[in-house]
Amino acid sequence: MLTPGGLPPLDAGERERAAELAARIRARIADHGGWLPFSAFMQAALYEPGLGYYMADGAIFGGAGDFVTAPELSPLFAACLADAVAPLLAAAGDGEILELGAGSGRLARELVAALARRGCAPRRYRIVEPSPRLQERQRRLLEHADAGTTAFEWLAAPPRDAWSGVALANEVVDALPVDRFRVTAEGCEAIGVTADGDAFRWQTQPAGRELTAVVAGLQRRLLQPMPQGFNSELRIGQDVWLRDAAAALARGALVVIDYGLPRAQYYHASRDGGTLAAFRRHRRIADVLAAPGTQDLTAWVDFSALADAARAAGLDPAGFATQAHFLLATGIDTELARLVDAAPERDRAAHRQAAATLLLPGEMGERFKVMALARGIRGPFHGFGFRNLGASL
Ligand SMILES: C[S@@+](CC[C@H](N)C(=O)[O-])C[C@H]1O[C@@H](n2cnc3c(N)ncnc32)[C@H](O)[C@@H]1O
Repeated sequence: MLTPGGLPPLDAGERERAAELAARIRARIADHGGWLPFSAFMQAALYEPGLGYYMADGAIFGGAGDFVTAPELSPLFAACLADAVAPLLAAAGDGEILELGAGSGRLARELVAALARRGCAPRRYRIVEPSPRLQERQRRLLEHADAGTTAFEWLAAPPRDAWSGVALANEVVDALPVDRFRVTAEGCEAIGVTADGDAFRWQTQPAGRELTAVVAGLQRRLLQPMPQGFNSELRIGQDVWLRDAAAALARGALVVIDYGLPRAQYYHASRDGGTLAAFRRHRRIADVLAAPGTQDLTAWVDFSALADAARAAGLDPAGFATQAHFLLATGIDTELARLVDAAPERDRAAHRQAAATLLLPGEMGERFKVMALARGIRGPFHGFGFRNLGASL
């Protein structure tokens, strides 16, 4: 049986989990005077221990899951990333890799294989994964990987001891909680969540001091300020995430890949309503607040805010490109030919189609961007396009 949108209904286990998580969120709303900022709702919906979307059992990635990421789609992504990462590892001086939010572990497996083909597999590949269940899945995949001399290790949090190399975050920042706001004549109001019986509803409330200050700062920096009534979102927590992720990076780069825009486009009047979305089984779900823990919640990345956070954390925004530019510059043509030549006839069309999905403007080619944030190295930032970003982004 399918629901009206063509979705299979939630199974009994999913319904039970959503009900338990909803009860916890309702209790928090009651404790906070009847209203929660959306970031607190999103944090619970995605990361509540044992119940959140990333913390509970479920397929998540791939055809049977809710969405497909670039490394899940094709080994071409890791092969091209290797072309950019290899010179950065060398520049960092025998560098290692730190992957933040490794999902199924496929990028780790394929990136190490691609670097090994180039004769520069890292000594160590560490993964910071907050979800115990995804960590388990990564361990299962990687213990069978032909990793050669590379040792995989898992960390509960980014390292505190100095290290050099490349940190990678593919589709991680979009999964960090956001707050919603609406522009008013006085500044802005917060759009948060309240309980209405068993359901959750949006409700506005006067913005707190932090949100007011961040929106006011944003308005000052926009050549075309957001008009009254415009609503969107802000990811205030990404500054701390980025600072911590790179805190102990002595020499090297943090590479962030995600869907997003520079701030002028992100907060353009035509994007009224923002970019927050819920997904289940490859379909966009209209009710973001429904059945918490059973659908992915995500919002696009403001890459200008990320570049600002990087500068504040002592990193240099050293390159910014669309995914299509990045993959073409790092040899996707050659990699596709190699993959197709080696593949049985029946798989060849799928490899070509995956390359098209990674590259086409209406698919992942332009929505996704690649940003290099460097510390203590001068490149080469192969494939990262637009350099010397300065304040231009
Ligand atoms: C959308 S998935 C992407 C997975 C993988 N990178 C890929 O491209 O297939 C988001 C991942 O980020 C992880 N994550 C969420 N918050 C994180 C944080 N603060 N630090 C590191 N990883 C985080 C999630 O558990 C999950 O593994």
